[in-house]
Amino acid sequence: MDFLTLFAVYVAVVLTCIALVCKYSGQQHSPLNVLFNFILGPITPKWLQKFWQWTLHRLFHQRSNMFIYLHILLEGAVYAEFTYEVFGFCREMDTTLTSLSVPYVLLGLKTFFFYLCIKTDPGTVTKKKVAAQLHIYSYDRRLFHPGVSCPTCQLVKPARSKHCRVCNRCVQRFDHHCVWVNNCIGAQNTRYFLLYLFSVCAMAGDIALLTGDMLLHAVLRSGLLRASYIDENGQEQPAGPLFVVQHLFLTFPRIVFMLGFLVFVFFLLAGYAMFHSYLALINQTSNEWYKSRGYVCQHCHPTAAADNLHSPVPDHSKRYYYSRGLLRNLGEIFFPPRPVQKKDN
Ligand SMILES: *[C@@H]1O[C@H](CO)[C@@H](O)[C@H](O)[C@H]1NC(C)=O
Ligand SMILES: [Zn+2]
Ligand SMILES: [Zn+2]
Repeated sequence: MDFLTLFAVYVAVVLTCIALVCKYSGQQHSPLNVLFNFILGPITPKWLQKFWQWTLHRLFHQRSNMFIYLHILLEGAVYAEFTYEVFGFCREMDTTLTSLSVPYVLLGLKTFFFYLCIKTDPGTVTKKKVAAQLHIYSYDRRLFHPGVSCPTCQLVKPARSKHCRVCNRCVQRFDHHCVWVNNCIGAQNTRYFLLYLFSVCAMAGDIALLTGDMLLHAVLRSGLLRASYIDENGQEQPAGPLFVVQHLFLTFPRIVFMLGFLVFVFFLLAGYAMFHSYLALINQTSNEWYKSRGYVCQHCHPTAAADNLHSPVPDHSKRYYYSRGLLRNLGEIFFPPRPVQKKDN
């Protein structure tokens, strides 16, 4: 394959990933939807549009293991490439076996958290448990009000819970429905979700570092940095960085391809992990975070009823309204309060 073809494939894969991310973020006005509706919409046959809608519905609005398989497939490809190509080159360049084994340890850790994330019940609100679940959090009368029932489950909604439309159940301390684990993220598995995110980041980051180091050594060894070429005017030109990149792409196409993918995944997930850590530290779920954006408190609003203004009210407008200190916030995530069922006598 020549350089341009390879590069086109590469760009296509990266763009597909970005498109998937946009779609996954679930926004109606994501670039992908806008592109489809306004540019591709009029020129695409009806049956194809139907098929596309059906596919999106199947993937994002119904439970399916598709993304779990995709996840395993991508991971398998990266680890195969690392094991069969990068590993050998790294050994030649005297990278120690200890540092080369770190990615495998991280893979084991990640798989463990991934599994727990998929298998743990996020905190489904059930008829049997709802009485106990109602007592875990108090209603803030801001985002959650007492006495509201879920029209689908026909159960009173505990504070901080939300009905997941994909799983068709109400979930305690609902964060979001994650298609990558085909499960909701809620009270009981937010901890595994966070650990999973961190281990994926560590995995991608570590393999990227080892690969980058290997490529750097390859460039230094080849003496390319001191090389020069004769341009069309017969002048001698030093080989610039572009020349080096092209050389690497042609010599180690699969490895460079993988490195690009890993760097992309790393930055994306690191950002996401940061966001979720921030939420964990301030005692908020992403559901609450979205809901409280643009919230105007009745007490703090200038047009609030006069009698309200005189009652001593906490400052509702603050982002950190729910925070009870970093340690206690984290404690709630890692040791989530469980509903205590009363024994019937
Ligand atoms: C987190 O916020 C909720 C209200 O949404 C509150 O009931 C709970 O006690 C808070 N948790 C901690 C650890 O402060
Ligand atoms: Zn419900
Ligand atoms: Zn769900």
